[in-house]
Amino acid sequence: MRLAPPPSAHFLRLVIVVMLVMGATPSPAMSSGCPDRCICDDQLVVQCAGQHLTTFPGNLPLATRQLIISNNRIVELPPLALNYLSDLVYLDCSNNSLKEVSESTFGNLRKLAYLDLSFNTLTRIEDRTFGPLASLVMLRMTDNPGLVDIHPDAFSENAALQVLDVSRNNLTALNVTSLVALPSLRSMGLSGNPWSCACDNEDLCLWVHVEGFKFQEEGQTVCGSPADLQGSRVGEVGLGLRALCHQMLGSWDYLFFILIGFAIFAAGTVSAWGMGVVMVLYERYVKRKGEQSDPEGGARGLQKVEEEEQVVGLQEMGQMGRTGRMGRTTSEVRGHPGNGDRKASHGV
Ligand SMILES: *[C@@H]1O[C@H](CO)[C@@H](O)[C@H](O)[C@H]1NC(C)=O
Ligand SMILES: *[C@@H]1O[C@H](CO)[C@@H](O)[C@H](O)[C@H]1NC(C)=O
Ligand SMILES: *[C@@H]1O[C@H](CO)[C@@H](O)[C@H](O)[C@H]1NC(C)=O
Repeated sequence: MRLAPPPSAHFLRLVIVVMLVMGATPSPAMSSGCPDRCICDDQLVVQCAGQHLTTFPGNLPLATRQLIISNNRIVELPPLALNYLSDLVYLDCSNNSLKEVSESTFGNLRKLAYLDLSFNTLTRIEDRTFGPLASLVMLRMTDNPGLVDIHPDAFSENAALQVLDVSRNNLTALNVTSLVALPSLRSMGLSGNPWSCACDNEDLCLWVHVEGFKFQEEGQTVCGSPADLQGSRVGEVGLGLRALCHQMLGSWDYLFFILIGFAIFAAGTVSAWGMGVVMVLYERYVKRKGEQSDPEGGARGLQKVEEEEQVVGLQEMGQMGRTGRMGRTTSEVRGHPGNGDRKASHGV
């Protein structure tokens, strides 16, 4: 007769299986039904595509991880309803009638990795619109025909961003300062915009030139202005543009250089004059000293004079120590070397 395995092992296995099953299914407390005209599955995916919705679906399960509301006519993403979905990882809003998104729209979606805003009617993207999306990896924002402006810092906090597509909008310029600094960015879509190939957009053109491999459909990334460059590839004009924009100096630059040149000239003249004056004064001083101590000595005598003064000073101190007399002049001492002792002895 074989022994059955110990019951404790059975029990443990059962507990593990139960835990796995519970982990895989949504906890009932978190899901609160499913919106009308949408399909919710047990993988926390809510599918509402092409349902002629004009408003954002209500009654969404709180634990929703994927929400697909594409191909509807939704005009607004209400911040309050959207930000309840703090576990949202994937959000597809493409092909709707969204007019604007703001900083508060995505304020709480810290786990969101994929966002699609393509085929909408967005006109501009403000600073920090995508700022709260710390996990955003892919952002698609193509085919918004009225989208003319994206704030320079719109993507500056999306450090995880790898793919950004802003193709087929109405963009003429894009400040790439913060984009270039994104550590993970590996793919950009810029095609189908009427890019300006002038100095105001020089950085973008140069970036496409230097890192062409990053850009999808680079062949369709062309200049919309100025007229003589229309249709030229943005990457191809990048280098020429840099030379052009930095070689041509404006009249203010010329004025600046003239003023700087004048300032340097004036400073040089003044300091040369000052030096001259100092030299002349110094020479006069030396000459006067020379005349006082040694009429023929001239400038040569200065050091000598100083040495003499030191020696005389010492002598004088010695005498003062012995005699206690004050106020003897240097010339007195110098004029009658050796006399001091006699005078001192007379005095005593
Ligand atoms: C957008 O959605 C409409 C239905 O609302 C559909 O007929 C159309 O083909 C969709 N367009 C794109 C580009 O997916
Ligand atoms: C694109 O922008 C230009 C001005 O930059 C404007 O004249 C034009 O109407 C815009 N196109 C669309 C489709 O909005
Ligand atoms: C781009 O944006 C940065 C930061 O906002 C700014 O300092 C810089 O001057 C801008 N560059 C251009 C060419 O406008």
